[in-house]
Amino acid sequence: MKKIAIVFTLLFLGLANLSKGDEGMWIPLLIEKFNIQDMQEKGFKLSAEDIYSINQACIMDAIVIFGRGCTGELVSDKGLLLTNHHCGYGAIQRHSSIEHDYLTDGFWAMNQQEELPNPDLKVTFLNSIEDVTSKVLKGVKNNFSEKERQELINENIKTIGEDAVGETDLKASVKPFYYGNQYFMFIYKEYKDVRLVGAPPSAIGKFGGDTDNWMWPRHTGDFSIFRIYADKDNNPAEYSADNVPYKPKKFLPISIKGLNEGDFTWVLGYPGSTNNYITSDAIKLTKDVRNPNRIKVRDKRIEIMNSYMDANDTIRIKYASKNAGASNSWKRWKGEIIGLNRLNTVEKKLELEAQFIEWASKKDEYKDVISELSKVYNEGEDYVVASDYYWESIKSIEIVRFASQFDKLIEMAETEEEDEFAKEIERLNKTMNSFYKDYVKAIDKDIFNGLLPMYYSNVDKRFYPEIEETVLNNSEAFIESLYKSTVFTNQERMKILLETKEGIKELSDDPIYKFYTAFNKVFVDKVNPISDSLNRRIQLLYRSYMKGLMKMQKDKVLFPDANFTMRVSYGKVAGFSPRDGVEYKYYTTLDGVIEKDNPNIYDYDVPEKLKEVYIAKDFGRYEVNGTVPVCFIATNHTTGGNSGSPVLDAEGNLIGLNFDRAWDGIMSDMEFDPERSRNVTLDIRYLLFIVDKFAGAGHLLEEMTIIE
Ligand code: ARG
Ligand code: GLU
Repeated sequence: MKKIAIVFTLLFLGLANLSKGDEGMWIPLLIEKFNIQDMQEKGFKLSAEDIYSINQACIMDAIVIFGRGCTGELVSDKGLLLTNHHCGYGAIQRHSSIEHDYLTDGFWAMNQQEELPNPDLKVTFLNSIEDVTSKVLKGVKNNFSEKERQELINENIKTIGEDAVGETDLKASVKPFYYGNQYFMFIYKEYKDVRLVGAPPSAIGKFGGDTDNWMWPRHTGDFSIFRIYADKDNNPAEYSADNVPYKPKKFLPISIKGLNEGDFTWVLGYPGSTNNYITSDAIKLTKDVRNPNRIKVRDKRIEIMNSYMDANDTIRIKYASKNAGASNSWKRWKGEIIGLNRLNTVEKKLELEAQFIEWASKKDEYKDVISELSKVYNEGEDYVVASDYYWESIKSIEIVRFASQFDKLIEMAETEEEDEFAKEIERLNKTMNSFYKDYVKAIDKDIFNGLLPMYYSNVDKRFYPEIEETVLNNSEAFIESLYKSTVFTNQERMKILLETKEGIKELSDDPIYKFYTAFNKVFVDKVNPISDSLNRRIQLLYRSYMKGLMKMQKDKVLFPDANFTMRVSYGKVAGFSPRDGVEYKYYTTLDGVIEKDNPNIYDYDVPEKLKEVYIAKDFGRYEVNGTVPVCFIATNHTTGGNSGSPVLDAEGNLIGLNFDRAWDGIMSDMEFDPERSRNVTLDIRYLLFIVDKFAGAGHLLEEMTIIE
């Protein structure tokens, strides 16, 4: 089977050159075929088997999905794990209060007893990857309708997954690549007892905050430390005091030998999603319509959160995570617009499309693909606008989103059997606890008032819900009346209501719930059916386009767009020139942290202790030229999800933690710019320095293998 799959892949892609520069996020299973030669020519010292192998422990075994959207890596034989501060942020925040403000002060467990459990956190190991294209497409005939095709594919995927994991606790995930031209199966194993071991204060871990986010030069110590626990047989287990540190198949040695411009580096992690093959119309839609709309709504939401957070410390803690989440994409969208305009991505795409149209002119399968795609984007624009506004304005009002979570329960109260019902109540009780812990009604109400009118003034009338006239005439009065009579803001009352089916039925008459369902109905009835069918057409057209592109560009190997599966990116340490007359170095140092120090600006308030260490020059073995390296940049192609990913040297030693990209190359999800697209990495020496010299948690370093 394997053999057939590989032969298929070869035929399919053609044996060929890689695409330009260091662009690309490659499938570990296919490194041997497509990349290893190129990697070794660029300085890589290991073999493909050292990265991915099912026969021996390999570097892949030291990498996990951290939580839902980040990457982490093992650095000791006692399950010690590194990831970013912003990836551990939720966990750190949940353990924080005014009395124990770990966000502000940091947290360091001085022994294993002090490590803090996190019931909602899990890590996921990858066991194996398999090309299952022919299994997935088995029985699919050319004359199938798209619906028939998809149904058979779904059925096949289900069987393949079930066959692969059997009765074990493993999980199978089959994902489409190249828009469904290929399929790969990933077998995962989840561990659920993950404890917080250490986190620097935000003034280090989030130094520069949202001001420096997505920027270079950077001085953020963006890391946090966790430990995976297992049962006594090293198997996954729910949290228990009896669990023991997990013993990994492989952990990463750490090198503090230092790095130079031009050095080979690579990243192994979980890039979430990219759109490197979308057409000119899609680029236009993104940069001229979607990003500007979404930015506009978030401007408002963020401004309101900031005004409250600046004035009150309790609120600052409660809203820290929400604010960071909202600001992050908001800023990236801005950068993407600038980058796509500067690169003339639309013009380049148009050229490629012209070439494609010519190549396809006599090929029935491809000849109308581009014009059809154009049509679909045209037809879909109003729907995209409506749903962006729905998500960004209506569904970003906390109380509305909260109410929407009760949909299933309300439905169940009528029909479902007791078992499922009890489970849903349990889930919602948890949801309620975390919701109320960080909810501030005044902020949410201001946001409601700010965002609701934006929906009405930007979305076509067809997509207005059927609710009282007052919404349009006097939204403030309308919102006031909602808050007056809703129970969703009342934690005590909510608890009582959830105890009986009558209580739950009452929720369905709640004005906030009704407000939500009125909007939801618009989407269920008018938007989703159309946009789903447009999406299906788009997927189908891209499947042909992608297949055609690969045939047309036979001399290239195109990488598959990111889809939150493990990928290898590789490149070199390199500075860049963002604009005429400016050259960026490839690294920053502790001197820069001190330069930025400003106790009056929240984002730049360097902790006293760090200043003391700086003045005493107590840098130990992390010192380079009288200071300590902090961050560096390289040409690895990364995206969201790669946060926390190990950045490795040619020998496979850990040299840093990926945490960001540089502003000037941030459009790399759509077009990678070899001149300016850079991933931003926390230098491992700064991490070790902070743990050792700042936190006095040197005992953790004893677990690690550090190469000097
Ligand atoms: N931009 C990085 C990423 O996309 C870091 C985000 C967290 N940091 C922040 N200042 N909001 O995840
Ligand atoms: N901070 C991002 C993360 O989650 C990584 C930066 C990027 O988008 O490249 O995942």
